[in-house]
Amino acid sequence: MSAAAWPRRPRLVAGNWKMHKTPAEGAALAREFVALAAADPAARACRVALCPPHPALAAVGEAVRGSGVDLGAQNMHAETHGAYTGEVSGPMLVSLGCRFVILGHSERRHGMGETDEAVAKKTRAALRDGLTPIVCVGELLAEREADRTAEVLVRQIAAVYAGMDVATAAATVIAYEPVWAIGTGKVASPEQARDAHRVIRATLDRVVGAGAGERMAILYGGSVNAGNAATLFAEPDIDGALVGGASLEAASFWKIAAAAAAAR
Ligand code: PGA
Repeated sequence: MSAAAWPRRPRLVAGNWKMHKTPAEGAALAREFVALAAADPAARACRVALCPPHPALAAVGEAVRGSGVDLGAQNMHAETHGAYTGEVSGPMLVSLGCRFVILGHSERRHGMGETDEAVAKKTRAALRDGLTPIVCVGELLAEREADRTAEVLVRQIAAVYAGMDVATAAATVIAYEPVWAIGTGKVASPEQARDAHRVIRATLDRVVGAGAGERMAILYGGSVNAGNAATLFAEPDIDGALVGGASLEAASFWKIAAAAAAAR
C-alpha cells in the first residue's frame, strides 16, 4: 500500500516538537491550537500537522481528532516489527492516527549518524505503511561556506528519490532545512531558500522524471517564527514550513499557519 498522492503543491505547516512535552502537556498545547484553528476557518487553506515525541502521540491524536489538524511522528524504523530495541515502526504510528512522519532530520543525521541510505530506506517504508514522509535535507554551515550547498542537496535528494516514479515521489513532502538555521534564530533569506528549493526541484526532474520537481511540496525549516513566516511564504517556491521552537507555543504556531494560508 502506498500513501495517496498529494494534490499539486499543497501548503503544509508541520510543528516538530522535538523532545518536548509530556502527553498531558502535549494534549493541552494541541487543544489550545485546535481552538485557535476553529476560530479562524480561513486559515484552513493550509494543512497543519503536529509532530510530538512518541509518548505523546496518543494524547495529542485524541486532542486533534475531528479537527482537521493532522498528527505526525518524528522518526520511525524501516522494518514493520522485530528485534529493534527502542525503535517504533510505521504501522505502530499509523495505529495511533499518524498521517505524517519526519525523516532524516539533521538532528538525526548529524547527532545520531543517520545516513542517506537509512533515510532512503525509511522513506520507502513510510510510503509502504501509508504514511506521508517529510524528508529533511540541508547543508551544514561549513558546507555552505565551502560553496557545497548544491552538491549536498543533490546527494541527499538523489539518495532518497533515484528510481522512484513521479506519483510515488509526489506522495512525499521535502523539507529544506539548512542546519545552520535550525534553532539558531538565523533564518535563511527567501532568496537562499528559493535557490535551494530550485536545486531540489531540478534534481527531482533529473532523478525521478521531467516535471517531478514542480509537483513536489517543499517546505522550508530553520528558525521560522510568526514574524518572518509571511516573508518566506511570499516566495512561490516555498510551500510551507517545518517549525521547531515556534511550534511549542500555540499562538505563534497558529500565526505561521495563517501566514501560509494567506500566501496563496
Ligand atoms: P527551529 O527548528 O524552527 O527551532 O529552527 C526547525 C526544525 O528543526 O525542524
